[in-house]
Amino acid sequence: MRMGEDEAIRFVDWVRGAAPYFHAFRGKTFVLAFGGEVAQGELMEDLCHDCNLLAALGVRLVLVHGSRPQIEAEVERRGLASRYHKGLRVTDEVALECVKAAVGVTRIEIEARLSQGLPNTPMAGAFMRVTGGNFITARPIGVVDGVDFQFTGTVRRVIADEIAADLDQQNVVLISNIGVSPAGEIFNLAMEEVAEQVAIALKAEKLIYLCDAPGLLDEQGRLIETITAEEAERKFNEGLGLTEDLHLFLPRAIKAVRHGVARAHLIDRDKDGGLLLEFFTRQGVGTMVARDPVHRLRQAGTEDVGALLQLLGPLEADGTLV
Ligand code: ARG
Repeated sequence: MRMGEDEAIRFVDWVRGAAPYFHAFRGKTFVLAFGGEVAQGELMEDLCHDCNLLAALGVRLVLVHGSRPQIEAEVERRGLASRYHKGLRVTDEVALECVKAAVGVTRIEIEARLSQGLPNTPMAGAFMRVTGGNFITARPIGVVDGVDFQFTGTVRRVIADEIAADLDQQNVVLISNIGVSPAGEIFNLAMEEVAEQVAIALKAEKLIYLCDAPGLLDEQGRLIETITAEEAERKFNEGLGLTEDLHLFLPRAIKAVRHGVARAHLIDRDKDGGLLLEFFTRQGVGTMVARDPVHRLRQAGTEDVGALLQLLGPLEADGTLV
């Protein structure tokens, strides 16, 4: 059935409203980070469609995935027990085997999802080349409070030039939560750290975390749409009402914007189309962390004439302005 008149008008308005973002985002780098829960969740397929759309609009897209539930399942399958210290896994030699298996499987599955193209889906005929590689070097975290983290590592260096060269080829780059030391040892990394470091190294426009909450909430439980790094830090130190993900991701988002990433976004991983709502509407759906206050006064230029006329038009029409 054809659209009704109202629906058609809304559709056209929507596309036109989004057009400025299409222009603004072309050629910009977005780093999208999500945990293993998303990779194995119901919305993964739709997320892939939305990534495909972003890539088609010319966004340079880097995906960083985690694998925590998959590693957990692998540990359990082998009858082992996970060991954590301060919320971070202690990766001994057997745990590292689980990490390798789980990360490998998760990555293969994400690549497969990104490669779909059935007719009658948003990805029909839209081939997206997904690449990856040895872009992250790592070093051990070492001993903390007398606990040796063994094969749990931290990012040593991001080989940003190579990632950028891949993006130049219009590839989507998929990065897993592991890194390799110069000696060739494999380390289990926290995906949130990898994403933050990649975003900083690439001077990304956006760092996006899909998380277990709609975003940051204020004291009344209302969503905070936009927050500066400074306010966000204050909020983090208060620690009130932070979910597990927010606790892990918020400091990363703050650090990223302080190191040159224009904006970091915290978006609900369970919201279908969350990325599209966040990117292509002015108010978004999640919480955006910006280095400076977003609304600043500035001198109007010729590029503002159209918008100003639109603003003044109705006032002129009803006689308020002459
Ligand atoms: N669509 C714009 C962007 O992606 C603004 C998003 C605003 N989002 C927010 N949570 N306040 O940059």
